[in-house]
Amino acid sequence: MKKVLVINSSARVLRSYSRKLTEVFIDHWKSIHTDSIIRFRELGNTDVPHVNENWIDAAFKPAAARSEVEIEALKTSDTYIAELREADIIVLGSPMYNWSIPSSLKAYIDQILRVNETWKFNPTNMQNPYIGLLENKTLFLLLSRGAQGYEKGEYNEHMNFQSNYLKTVFNIIGISNIHVIAVNGQSYDPEEFKRSVDTSHQDVRNLVELELNYNEK
Ligand SMILES: Cc1cc2nc3c(=O)[nH]c(=O)nc-3n(C[C@H](O)[C@H](O)[C@H](O)COP(=O)(O)O)c2cc1C
Repeated sequence: MKKVLVINSSARVLRSYSRKLTEVFIDHWKSIHTDSIIRFRELGNTDVPHVNENWIDAAFKPAAARSEVEIEALKTSDTYIAELREADIIVLGSPMYNWSIPSSLKAYIDQILRVNETWKFNPTNMQNPYIGLLENKTLFLLLSRGAQGYEKGEYNEHMNFQSNYLKTVFNIIGISNIHVIAVNGQSYDPEEFKRSVDTSHQDVRNLVELELNYNEK
């Protein structure tokens, strides 16, 4: 039985296109996998703690050497990492805010990229010193953007600090099986936007089926 972790980071609860994408994913997944375990992590409408001095001191020393205050400072990070470890499938909904990601999602990423927990350092390989420690996971990045043209070779590619960044950080912690689907163009032509929404929803359903076929072989 697959375990799914759904993470939402839009500040909008109503009319959120990235939340709609995660919803389409869950509905289709559940229609095929009636016995799935699905957990949720809300980021967009909650306070995600920022890393602070105690957090940094604690994270870079052995667990046995941490003070009570330092252990406490890592509690949220421990919870988030445990959720990720447990999941086989991670579904992350993210809007583009100012060509990047919401600050709540950035704070979450700072909590989950933790040395000797989700990645370790290999000093013998200066060009790529990161060894990811989370294995055998698939990540679905379900994205929304007001404009368009952010894909490879398109006119806004150089402004895309959303999907490229997310792929990079999840790669570093060992997740390289990543699918990206985006709704684009909400701020422009309504008909074209509707096509983008419909296509993205169908793409999500297709990917759910592909993932199932792949894993059942
Ligand atoms: C604070 C803020 C910043 C945004 N910045 C961008 C941006 O840089 N580029 C873009 O294409 N759209 C931008 N948008 C539009 C959102 O990406 C778009 O509305 C998206 O659908 C939001 O995700 P949601 O529907 O899941 O809430 C921004 C929206 C907000 C609220």
